[in-house]
Amino acid sequence: MTEPQKSTVTITGAAGQIGYALLFRIASGAMLGPTTRVRLRLLEIPAAVHAAEGTALELDDCAFPLLDSIDVTDRAEEAFDGADVALLVGARPRAAGMERADLLAANGSIFGPQGRAINDHAADDIRVLVVGNPANTNALIAAAHAPDVPAERFTAMTRLDHNRGLAQLAAKLGCRTSEIDGLTIWGNHSATQYPDITHATAGGQPIASLVEQEWVEQEFIPRVARRGTEIIEARGASSAASAASAAIDQVHDWVLGGDASWTSAGVVSDGSYGVPKGLVSSFPVRSIEGGWEIVPGLEVPEFSKVRIEASVKELEQERESVRTLGLIG
Ligand code: NAD
Ligand code: LMR
Repeated sequence: MTEPQKSTVTITGAAGQIGYALLFRIASGAMLGPTTRVRLRLLEIPAAVHAAEGTALELDDCAFPLLDSIDVTDRAEEAFDGADVALLVGARPRAAGMERADLLAANGSIFGPQGRAINDHAADDIRVLVVGNPANTNALIAAAHAPDVPAERFTAMTRLDHNRGLAQLAAKLGCRTSEIDGLTIWGNHSATQYPDITHATAGGQPIASLVEQEWVEQEFIPRVARRGTEIIEARGASSAASAASAAIDQVHDWVLGGDASWTSAGVVSDGSYGVPKGLVSSFPVRSIEGGWEIVPGLEVPEFSKVRIEASVKELEQERESVRTLGLIG
């Protein structure tokens, strides 16, 4: 009998809301498929280790056949030891009166050391998905502290924005989300992001010919870009189950490939589409042999260009801020 495949998956912020929605699905096989056994490593701050241990008890009680082991720790070097996949969810939320620079500094002190621990202890082919906000710049900081890990192994989550876009389009067109292809989220996981339907189709038909441009500009783009705020206002807390589901989707497709022509992910720019090299920006991407490839050669009309540039400008400003703070070189 052949040995089943095993994967070590590290989740930071495991006792948080997203962690609680994420762990059970990973342990059930939703992320890495039905033939890969999973060793979970949960990283938390000391004050939340006990709560994460409580979640571990519940994971035990699910009797998931694919779940090999669960370790809970507050030590990054232990949590990332031999990690094949790392989901960096734990982050410092913005507190009242906190400026953006304060938030970037607070998160820099989390993602810098975690990047270093990944560099020193994780598997050589680690895949890192940063969920904690500001996700793109946190991924940039982590990658900067992991010089021995290829930069393309660090990604930021914009799959939630992509899924939100699919859901809005399917509702508008009265079709299934699986019938929609060719949607792209460009730029930052923030209100400046650009959800782009230029190349999107529904059942093979160009969506631009099925919806009014006014709806795209006045409703679709702002609705998707501000959905995070809409959820916070409605729930009184930031999205958790949908964020966890998107994280599962993003890692699943990265490792195992996806069904659509392409999806969206925050990846390190190679200079494609005028996005400065090294920025972690959302692009149209497809998973090829276990790596993300930025879809090349798409036509970018002026309407899109200005919106992509605006979001990329924000990413450049965030990079400048963390540089000024000494968080990256
Ligand atoms: P939460 O506050 O419920 O949980 C965060 C957890 O992280 C807490 O348990 C906390 O103890 C832990 N934590 C803090 N610092 C840590 C550290 N240094 N190491 C390990 N753990 C640490 O928050 P949540 O709802 O789970 O959201 C987590 C993050 O995800 C937030 O930054 C949120 O804004 C972000 N988010 C991103 C997206 C996206 O699409 N990229 C979507 C939703 C939420
Ligand atoms: C989301 O898009 O739901 C979150 O990133 C919002 C937030 O600020 O946590």
